Amino acid sequence: AANGLAATPPMGWNSWNHFAGRITAADVRAMADAMAANGMRDAGYVYVNIDDTWEGKRNAAGDIETNDKFGDMKALADYVHARGMKLGLYSSPGATTCAGFVGSHGHEDQDARRFAAWGVDYLKYDYCGARDLYPVTQRNQEMLFRKMGDALRKAGRPVVYSLSQSGDFDIWRWGPQTGANLWRTTPDISDTWESMSQRGFRQLDLSAWSGPGHWSDPDMLEIGNGGMTADEYRTQMSLWSLLPAPLLAGNDLRTMDAATKDILLNREVIAVDQDPAGHPARRLERQGDVEVLVRDMADGSIVVGFFNRGESTTVRWSWHKLGDRFAHPTGARDLWHHAAIDTQRPFEATLPRHAVAMVRIAP
Ligand code: DGJ
Repeated sequence: AANGLAATPPMGWNSWNHFAGRITAADVRAMADAMAANGMRDAGYVYVNIDDTWEGKRNAAGDIETNDKFGDMKALADYVHARGMKLGLYSSPGATTCAGFVGSHGHEDQDARRFAAWGVDYLKYDYCGARDLYPVTQRNQEMLFRKMGDALRKAGRPVVYSLSQSGDFDIWRWGPQTGANLWRTTPDISDTWESMSQRGFRQLDLSAWSGPGHWSDPDMLEIGNGGMTADEYRTQMSLWSLLPAPLLAGNDLRTMDAATKDILLNREVIAVDQDPAGHPARRLERQGDVEVLVRDMADGSIVVGFFNRGESTTVRWSWHKLGDRFAHPTGARDLWHHAAIDTQRPFEATLPRHAVAMVRIAP
């Protein structure tokens, strides 16, 4: 996008999946503290994003205020910045947000200036509250999203601009024209295998529309929220990194167990997500319930993901399927076991139900 941000998919945390409308400024401070202390910030998770329900009323001058749960937003931004991270906020193009709070309609420039004055670095702009104002058409959505995109640019502070709707009107085709750095491609994710896997795999068909500065977004992470198994959460982390997609944790970072931490902080997998070339993953083949995805890395290596969408199975696979260049690989790493793999023999792995193996191979 024209703002030069999000050269790789944004990484951070968002309040919605775990806290929804219960989020408070104190929680946000606690998340920032946790991210600085537990290694997340240093692994690249730098955006601390407040979703819907921070909004208060407009004052006499028309400026939006926070509600009682948030108080001084500038102070909160300062707090996050002081810990080496960035603050994200949320609004909607309608008169009201999705949760029924005050939206930005008719105040786009004023809100963008206020967000800039507070020190906001990321805006999630969620299509809600506009149905009564304009018929729901692509033209009108585009117009409303562009209005805020222009307002952010005029306000002069670099702000990652993230659109949220359900993938309506093939938004991946026109999202970039609104000034956006990312756009949701699906309805809300929930903390289940069906919801997560459907969103993630579906996005493989949209890979052509993503690249540095502009990313398709299959929604936030559910890792650590308790509704899926560790294998299923490893699948979300692996799939989102291969696509690649934004990595916005959505759990309570104060109470993470060791498995959750290992998944979110797997630096070898994060490096796949954050590869500077930004090439998308593609489907190589399907063996029964196992999908084989591949992604080219900037350094000439290739990452292969084996995703078992069914019951426990053993995968056997030969390197020559990657083509001549990888027929006799010089090395291969198992990105979940953090170990070298012997490439003299065919690849073999037993994958429990909904488990994944990720391998990075050097030519
Ligand atoms: C709908 C979005 O898809 C969710 O991620 C969240 O932002 C809610 N709206 C907030 O109201």
